Amino acid sequence: MFSRSALRTSSRLFSTSAPRQTKVAVLGAGGGIGQPLSLLLKSDPLVTSLSLYDIRGAPGVAADVSHVDTASEARYLVNGYAADHLDDALSGAKVVVIPAGVPRKPGMTRDDLFNTNASIVRDLASAVARVAPDACILVISNPVNSTVPIVAATLEKAGVFDPKRLFGVTTLDVVRAARFLAGVSGATPNDTPVTVVGGHSGATIVPLLSQSSYGKGVTGEAYAALVNRIQFGGDEVVKAKDGAGSATLSMAYAGAKFANAVLRGLNGEKGVVTPTFVKSPLFEDKGVDFFSSNVELGPNGVEKIHPIGQLSAEEEKLMEACIPELKKNIEKGKAFAA
Ligand code: NAD
Ligand code: LMR
Repeated sequence: MFSRSALRTSSRLFSTSAPRQTKVAVLGAGGGIGQPLSLLLKSDPLVTSLSLYDIRGAPGVAADVSHVDTASEARYLVNGYAADHLDDALSGAKVVVIPAGVPRKPGMTRDDLFNTNASIVRDLASAVARVAPDACILVISNPVNSTVPIVAATLEKAGVFDPKRLFGVTTLDVVRAARFLAGVSGATPNDTPVTVVGGHSGATIVPLLSQSSYGKGVTGEAYAALVNRIQFGGDEVVKAKDGAGSATLSMAYAGAKFANAVLRGLNGEKGVVTPTFVKSPLFEDKGVDFFSSNVELGPNGVEKIHPIGQLSAEEEKLMEACIPELKKNIEKGKAFAA
C-alpha cells in the first residue's frame, strides 16, 4: 500500500530500536491534535499499547485507530476511555502525552488560553501523579511556557516530581525551522536541522540559525523574515484556519516524532538528542528554571541538558527578548499552581 517514498517519509518520522513493552496514553485523544497523533502513534513500532482518553469521543477514536494494520498489530492493544475512566486510561502508562485543552482563535495569544487550560492540565497531572507516577509526561497543551511549570508544581505537591520525566513539546518549532530554512536555502529539511531554544511562544522561540550550516548563510532582511516566520508560524495557521483552531496535523506529526525520541531513549538507544522544554539549570541565575535546549534522552528520560553554545550578535538580542517574557510565563504557571 505504501510507495517507497512514503516509507522513506515514515522512516524520517520514526526510528526504531529493539522494542520493549511500552504503553502510551494520550489525554485529549478526541481533539484536533489527539486524533491524528493517536493514528501516528499506532504506526510507531515502539508503541505496544495505546490508551486513548478524552472527555469526549475517545472510545470512537480508539475503535477507528485499532483497525489500522500496522506491523505491530499482533501484540497491539488500543483502548478508548470515556470521561469517568481517566485512572483506567493511565494505569500502567510509561509515557503520557497531553494535548487536552482549548486552541487559539485569530487575535488570541497562547497566554489567552491560560484561564481554561491551566486547570485542565493541573487536574490531568494530579491523576498521573496518583496512577502513573513514574511515567514520562509530554505536555502539548498551551501555553506550554506555563503549563509545564503547572504540571511540575502539581507533581511536586504530590511528592512524585522527577524533572527527568517532564517535557514541554517544542518539536513543532524545530520542524517549522527546518522546513522554512529549507524553503529559503533550496535544500531539503533533512539537511537543514535547526536547534530552537527558549520556550514556545513568539519572542521566547529562539532559532539558533548561526549553528546550522545552511542557516548561517541567511542574513539581512531574509534572516529577519525567517526568524519572524519561525517565531510566529503558529499565527500563520491560526489565521488560515479562520476560527477553526490552530495547528493540529503538523503538531500531531511533531508530537509523534518527539514521543518516538523519548521511547528510543527509554529503550536505551544512545545519542537521541532534541530540543525540549524541561526543568533546566541553564538560566536559573536569571530566574528562569524551565528552558528548552538540546536534551539527550535516555532510559530515565532526561539524560543530559546541553548548553546553548555560541550565539551570534542577533541571537544574543533574541535571547534578551526571550528571557524576561519566559520568566513571566513560568511565574504565572507557578502562581496558579500554588
Ligand atoms: P481541540 O479543541 O481540537 O482538542 C482538545 C481536546 O481536549 C478536545 O477533544 C477536548 O474534549 C479535550 N479535553 C478538554 N478538556 C479535557 C480534559 N479535562 N481531559 C481530557 N480531554 C480534555 O484542540 P487541539 O487543536 O487539539 O489543541 C489542543 C491544545 O494543544 C491547545 O491548547 C493548543 O493550543 C495546543 N497546541 C500546542 C502546540 C505545541 O506546539 N505545543 C501546537 C498546537 C496546539
Ligand atoms: C503552534 O505553534 O502552532 C501552537 O502553539 C498553536 C498556536 O496556538 O499557535
